[in-house]
Amino acid sequence: MTSIMKKEIFEEPGVVKHLLDKYVTGENIINIELPEKIDNIVIVASGSSYNCAAIAAPLFVEYVQIPCEYEYSSEFVLQKKHFITDDSLYIFVSQSGETSDTLNALKMIKEQGVKTMCITNAKDSAMWNLCDYKILSDAGEEKSIASTKALTAQIFCSILVMLKLVAKKGEDISGYLNTMRRLPAYLERIKIDEKKIEEAAALTAEFNNISILGNKNYYPIAKEGALKMKETCYLNVMAYPFGEFMHGHVAVLNQKSIVIAIIDEENAKFAIRNLKKIKDEYNPKVICITSVQEVKSGDINIYIKTKRKMKAIFGALLTLQLMACNMADILDKNPDSPKGLHKVVKD
Ligand code: AGP
Repeated sequence: MTSIMKKEIFEEPGVVKHLLDKYVTGENIINIELPEKIDNIVIVASGSSYNCAAIAAPLFVEYVQIPCEYEYSSEFVLQKKHFITDDSLYIFVSQSGETSDTLNALKMIKEQGVKTMCITNAKDSAMWNLCDYKILSDAGEEKSIASTKALTAQIFCSILVMLKLVAKKGEDISGYLNTMRRLPAYLERIKIDEKKIEEAAALTAEFNNISILGNKNYYPIAKEGALKMKETCYLNVMAYPFGEFMHGHVAVLNQKSIVIAIIDEENAKFAIRNLKKIKDEYNPKVICITSVQEVKSGDINIYIKTKRKMKAIFGALLTLQLMACNMADILDKNPDSPKGLHKVVKD
């Protein structure tokens, strides 16, 4: 029987298509309301939504050239003072709009009169009602405790906010939007390649010591893959940036291990150089999830071929989500009801 989690992963191309129709006009106008002036952004969230924040923040810095920080909600509330200007925007990302840690963070910063925005899948949720600006990520009800399609929708909406700010600076965003319009078809193609993903899941499920490596925007994708495998398979999977992994963490490979390497266009040389060192020294099993056709370093290589970062992010994410789901099947775990977990984490 197909799990709810898998069904929801398979809905992702449709979710993206829906968001394009909802928020982007044929004339390349992004219909999202933003404050007139923003001079810095802080994104606050938990779990998968935090991984969305960690993917989005560097995109705001890179493309909009605006300072953008991100923080775990639970840590945010422990910090006594936060950096605020008259034109700060605090963005709260939450599938449910009800998670206590994120809601408490929102309430705390609101008291200081700062502008707030939420990206949530739940209209009329507590966060929705409290925020000054609101974006419905509209992925449809997400039943699986392991969040998948909701995260894809959150990342997509964050990218739309980012592109709206780029457009406000007077830059042409039509090329970026065309890339986004090709995203549903791209994700459909990755789904079609599921056999390879199943093979990779079967190999990974043989290990208790799993490290997922990725650079820059792909490090939070690696973290998300690890989170999905923890939730669905109860395995202690760790994620690291490639370079940082070499600073001691790599010693975990002295045990029987598998490394899942996300290798993107931008950082391919750096990643391959480190992967070679890892293989020479420790010879673990390796799976590559890569947008670069020339990469052949893995025992299994899953190609998510594209030259566009805005597409590859989603391709790598969907691949890891499907791997986690298939691993749960192989390990005879039900990904739809992970022991001890709840859809909404409350105080
Ligand atoms: C993700 O698979 C988890 N179930 C969990 O980390 C979740 O993302 C987190 O609790 C935040 O939930 P929210 O997006 O509803 O605020």
